[in-house]
Amino acid sequence: MSAFPKDFLWGAATAAYQVEGAHDVDGKGPSIWDTFSHLPGTTYQGTNGDVAVDHYHRFREDVALMAEMGMQSYRFSISWPRLLPQGRGTINEAGVKFYSDLIDALLEHNIEPMITLYHWDLPQALQDEGGWEARSTAEAFEEYASLCYQRYGDRVKLWSTFNETVCFIGFGYITGGHPPGVKNPARALQACHHVFVAHAKAVAAFRTSGIDGKIGFVNVLQTHTPLSQSAEDLAAYQLAEGIFTHWLYDPVLKGEYPAELLAQAQAVWGVPQFAPGDEQLLRDNICDFIGLNYYKRETIAANHHESHLTMNTSGEKGKGHQQGNEFGFKGLFKFVRNPNGVYTDWDWEIYPQGLTEGIMNIKARYGDIPMYITENGLGAKDPIIDGEVVDDDRIDYLRQHIGAIEDAINQGADVRGYYPWSFIDLLSWLNGFQKQYGFVYVDHNKGLARQRKKSFFWYQKLIGSNGAER
Ligand code: BG6
Repeated sequence: MSAFPKDFLWGAATAAYQVEGAHDVDGKGPSIWDTFSHLPGTTYQGTNGDVAVDHYHRFREDVALMAEMGMQSYRFSISWPRLLPQGRGTINEAGVKFYSDLIDALLEHNIEPMITLYHWDLPQALQDEGGWEARSTAEAFEEYASLCYQRYGDRVKLWSTFNETVCFIGFGYITGGHPPGVKNPARALQACHHVFVAHAKAVAAFRTSGIDGKIGFVNVLQTHTPLSQSAEDLAAYQLAEGIFTHWLYDPVLKGEYPAELLAQAQAVWGVPQFAPGDEQLLRDNICDFIGLNYYKRETIAANHHESHLTMNTSGEKGKGHQQGNEFGFKGLFKFVRNPNGVYTDWDWEIYPQGLTEGIMNIKARYGDIPMYITENGLGAKDPIIDGEVVDDDRIDYLRQHIGAIEDAINQGADVRGYYPWSFIDLLSWLNGFQKQYGFVYVDHNKGLARQRKKSFFWYQKLIGSNGAER
């Protein structure tokens, strides 16, 4: 017997740009990722999502595999420019139909859809008008969300507005590694504010739509630990908590920014600027649930130097943050390698207890909010032995993290579902196809043929026993 409740949802996740392909098919408009990934030097070896794993054309085969694995829920995102090529206005009915058919196929197999409205692929047309820095993008988002509610709300109960603000705003507007490639914290904060406004507007529209469902927000669950107990490392750690947790969760779970940090940001940069009514809008539209994406713990230390982000995108250990090459903000904090940590080949620390700790921290700060673990997984180059994909490391990783969720449930947390990243091997934004996460392998040398991995059968058993057999 496991601690998982009877109606716990065992699922898996993907995102549109990373699986669909068909980037210019059936009337889809370009997204910022279509544009960005075609610029020289932006992604690993020039990889892009033009074809990805062609889920757009193979979704029925993929849904059949989900059903065979026993999946009870599937988290996927909608490509906004597939529905609204200009971001607003004219509707592309072929795009609407694709997701409608996908939803029907899932329901025929008793798989509950969980929709993410925004997983980073903003219509390029809206970027051309200022993207998230323009308030009008928040209004366009409300229009797009309402279209999704109208067309899919009769069949879909679980919705989230945004995936991981810390990534698309942080990489998009601070480090510059994601589109639109800006490096300016003040612009980041204003863009981030418009995301919160867009979220609140979409939640308000959801509640008036009459849909019998729940709506939430998906964030990175960033568990931190200080490098040492020195006063300056502890202060750096507190600050990292404030920025990566309080700033990003409070507006959607409490309906307000953390007051002290807000005052500091406005004093230094004059942002975020609020339009009349924003405060009320945020207060009135807090989430029904929170989605947590957990991969790794971050170790935090005081920082006295300028530094820039060097990401490990090759899967060769030691190419990420390391001594003398640590990313951070001068005078605030930096991310460092934990001397006691166990790391993946991409230099991500494997720390399952961090998932328990993170869940319990969210509960402590925000009360009895329902939670879904909307992503969790191991990126690796999987070994193939005698034609079988033997991803034992992934099985170990997932097993330990499922144990960590069980611990949190035993400590009273209301966790309602688990969506490993990812259902199938897919495009990693900056790491190409070599960083595999899936239960299903895709052979790029054999016309994208699908193959079940060892973890597929392991997860199938686990689901069949509601988490007991692992
Ligand atoms: C999450 C994203 O940040 O991490 C996914 O929501 C992403 O879209 C996943 O693929 C893993 O990141 P990466 O860089 O290893 O592909």
